[in-house]
Amino acid sequence: MKHLLKLLDLSKEEIIDILNLADQLKYEQKNGFEHKHLKGKTLGMIFQKSSTRTRVSFETGMYQLGGQALFLSSRDLQIGRGEPVQDTARVLSRYLDGIMIRTFEQKEVEDLAEYGSIPIINGLTDFCHPCQVLADLMTIREYKGVLEGLKLCFIGDGNNMANSLIVGGLKVGMSVSIACPEGYEPDAEVLEFAKAYGDKFTLTTSPVEAAKGADVLYTDVWASMGEEAEAEERKKIFAGYQINDEVMAAAKGDAMVQHCLPAHREEEITAKVFEAHANEIFDEAENRLHAQKAVMVKLMA
Ligand code: CP
Ligand code: NVA
Repeated sequence: MKHLLKLLDLSKEEIIDILNLADQLKYEQKNGFEHKHLKGKTLGMIFQKSSTRTRVSFETGMYQLGGQALFLSSRDLQIGRGEPVQDTARVLSRYLDGIMIRTFEQKEVEDLAEYGSIPIINGLTDFCHPCQVLADLMTIREYKGVLEGLKLCFIGDGNNMANSLIVGGLKVGMSVSIACPEGYEPDAEVLEFAKAYGDKFTLTTSPVEAAKGADVLYTDVWASMGEEAEAEERKKIFAGYQINDEVMAAAKGDAMVQHCLPAHREEEITAKVFEAHANEIFDEAENRLHAQKAVMVKLMA
């Protein structure tokens, strides 16, 4: 593994390896064992979109691993004034030991990897959010003890989160069901990937149908970063694509709830369900730190 560009590139074994290392690093951090695997290394973090979790967890994670992280807002970089990503990649490769990038187009992340000579980590694109799903799988395994054989249900927009959950979930042996409105399905490349998994993957327009027998219910915002102009229209289209009591009742009695955050209460999830499952959701947010530390150690140590 040279980069983390998308989960489609990873084998099941590579995903499980990252999760195992994440568990170990979490244990070491909680119990005060030194784990400075990246002493003297520098991670550059390019942000073209806002972030709370990704920025703070990468920066803190790098510090805990003995290295340092640089926050690089695209507003201040020459990339924001049109310097090609190909040149940025070759320049930054001379200074840094790794780059985390959050941007719009997946191609930009792939170009950085192609032209640069250091590991590239995708911190979210319009296409996918692999770091989030690694943390999600880690959390689900903590709560359920296993991943294989569980049913994961995602309700809402067929967006970057849906795309990554389908790929990550199916690769580790879960079945995945998606409920989204017509016209808001996951990416065609991901649906093509899912075909090979037969009836382990289902796509429907009915949230209750998708939630039947689920072990994990997952949702995300109706309008993602970059879709602010569509937010009002989307509120109408996505009304009903919500994790609420009715959907919970269709799932297994001990179903857990995950949300990548930030959450919009009474839109994609009711405040009641959110608060009832807050521990699971904030453990998930915490696990971004541990999962990403594992990714950085795998790629940069
Ligand atoms: N879930 C997530 O990626 O959060 P941020 O946008 O705050 O980084
Ligand atoms: N789908 C959301 C995820 C945020 C972590 C977005 O792209 O804005």
